Amino acid sequence: MNGELVVVDDLAGEFAERIIEAFRHRSNDEFSLALSGGQTARRCYERLAAESASRIDWWLVEVYWGDERCVPPEDADSNERLGREALLERVGAAGSIHPMRCDDGPDPYQMRIGELGRLDVVHLGLGADGHTASLFPGSPGLDADPGRLVVMNEDPSGSNRHPRMTLTLSGIARARLVLFTVAGVEKRAAMQRIVDGEDLPAARVHADRVVWLVDREAAPLAQAANTMVGGTGPA
Ligand code: 6PG
Repeated sequence: MNGELVVVDDLAGEFAERIIEAFRHRSNDEFSLALSGGQTARRCYERLAAESASRIDWWLVEVYWGDERCVPPEDADSNERLGREALLERVGAAGSIHPMRCDDGPDPYQMRIGELGRLDVVHLGLGADGHTASLFPGSPGLDADPGRLVVMNEDPSGSNRHPRMTLTLSGIARARLVLFTVAGVEKRAAMQRIVDGEDLPAARVHADRVVWLVDREAAPLAQAANTMVGGTGPA
């Protein structure tokens, strides 16, 4: 697998600390963060909001999304709504907020990411089918031209609802740091397949640095014993 696998007891807490650390060591005054969707992300953002009040100057943070469902921003399935509820409304404000707008098509977002150049952090989740962002197994977005940073995409299996907008693997590769967060026994099989080298969408993610934060339940058994951080195992 590509990246560092870190098994943690307190996934949300470890995520928050690593975002705070990335902010403190940012390359420029501004700090660009691309948010994920999903319930693991929701828990991570609520904790980040709680831990970062005096440790991140949110006025210096440019907030992007790694993917979005093509629903209204107030829809319960909207990743923008999730990011606003779990993070942005709790920290008070951000320097700039860049939601994805399906109605505009992918090109304006592609232009924005292209102008930005690099993303300091892209936060990604993992689906039980091995998808990440909205790059699903067998979906055309997985094989987008290398010059495409943002595409529209869908899950051909129908398991993941709504048409989507998503960063491509090239778009994700603009990250200085990709931080995966994976929690729950229902993700263990996908993690094992990735560790075993299966060509799942999430396994294709490359960036300057890729870190997988995985809780005990999702960790493949061999890794769970050997790379515990913040728990009782060896550091
Ligand atoms: C989305 C997410 C998606 C998510 C994973 C994990 O828009 O659905 O970006 O990639 O991160 O499906 O979601 P859970 O944490 O809810 O399992």
